[in-house]
Amino acid sequence: MNAFFAPRADAGQIEPLVDGHGRTIGDLRVSVTDLCNLRCQYCMPPEGVDWLDHSEVLSFEEIARLVDVFASLGVHSVRLTGGEPLVRREFPKLAAMIGRIGGIEDLSITTNGFYLERDATALVAAGIHRFNVSLDALDRKRFAQVTRRDVYDRVIAGLQALEGLEGVTAIKVNAVAMRGFTEHDVLAFAELARTRPYQIRFIEYMPIGADDWRAEDVLTGEELRAMIETAYPLVPTEHEPHATARVFRFADGDGEIGFINPVSQPFCGECDRVRLTADGKLRTCLFSHYETNLRDPLRGGAGDEELRQVIRDAVWRKELKHAIGDEGFRKPARTMSSIGG
Ligand code: 5AD
Ligand code: SF4
Repeated sequence: MNAFFAPRADAGQIEPLVDGHGRTIGDLRVSVTDLCNLRCQYCMPPEGVDWLDHSEVLSFEEIARLVDVFASLGVHSVRLTGGEPLVRREFPKLAAMIGRIGGIEDLSITTNGFYLERDATALVAAGIHRFNVSLDALDRKRFAQVTRRDVYDRVIAGLQALEGLEGVTAIKVNAVAMRGFTEHDVLAFAELARTRPYQIRFIEYMPIGADDWRAEDVLTGEELRAMIETAYPLVPTEHEPHATARVFRFADGDGEIGFINPVSQPFCGECDRVRLTADGKLRTCLFSHYETNLRDPLRGGAGDEELRQVIRDAVWRKELKHAIGDEGFRKPARTMSSIGG
């Protein structure tokens, strides 16, 4: 539970946010900047992407206002992402502003870990208790190969800073699984999950960001699980509603490991998420081809009810599912770094 959690005065007075397929939206991913200090191969080209102009990016006050409007519609869980959220100046201040919004029960962050050692204490003080840290390989060279930056030691130091910190309730380590690469580290990841207080989650490589995605490059969760089971038998845990990961515990009781399988086992049916980009666009799916501009009405002086109506209309049209694997699939124009993971 978020440290500042307070119920809302308007709780129960406003209809919850539902889409046209009967799903209730409770989770908002907020990208606070499109900038990133790494260049992960699966996410963007080596030269980076066209960054947003400063004037296009929402201010702290604008982000907090929109989150408040979403919270009035029943959103209770907020994940802060980027780009890399910690490259945004005074990010902990923004986190605290969001944590104080009535109705926000759960506040979490997805980070590449580069600034974690510096910021961990401030983030916990700001009300963030659950951390997702991206870590795609378990040695320095191979990590630099994926991220195109030699920063493995910093990320590990960041994870260690979290481990020792009171108030941290979950440390999840996300590894994008790519054929011909991740096999190398699978068992080392399993050992990490068994020996450290981290839940390691493998994410299937998705066609978003990098231009050269091929279906055969996806190393599926089932394949990874089979590799792990050659050394460590796994037992499924109960599936939590809306959870993206299928979580297993090691049969001998030491730790857990998860598989996020958007490509081989899509979980769109129970999706309760929408996304707000750093430039104030509402995306109802990671793979949307349409976005709804919330920044213009916001800057144009729209009242809460007017914003709620724009959000309701957009959410009503939320995509039934992504079309990865279907004929005619087109990847979204934005990279993950400008959508928010
Ligand atoms: N496929 C799968 N996961 C991705 N991420 C970024 N791009 C991709 C992709 N193409 C993940 C990152 C990070 C989160 C923000 O999204 O590894 O954990
Ligand atoms: Fe940055 Fe995350 Fe994209 Fe890597 S995946 S380049 S850390 S935004």
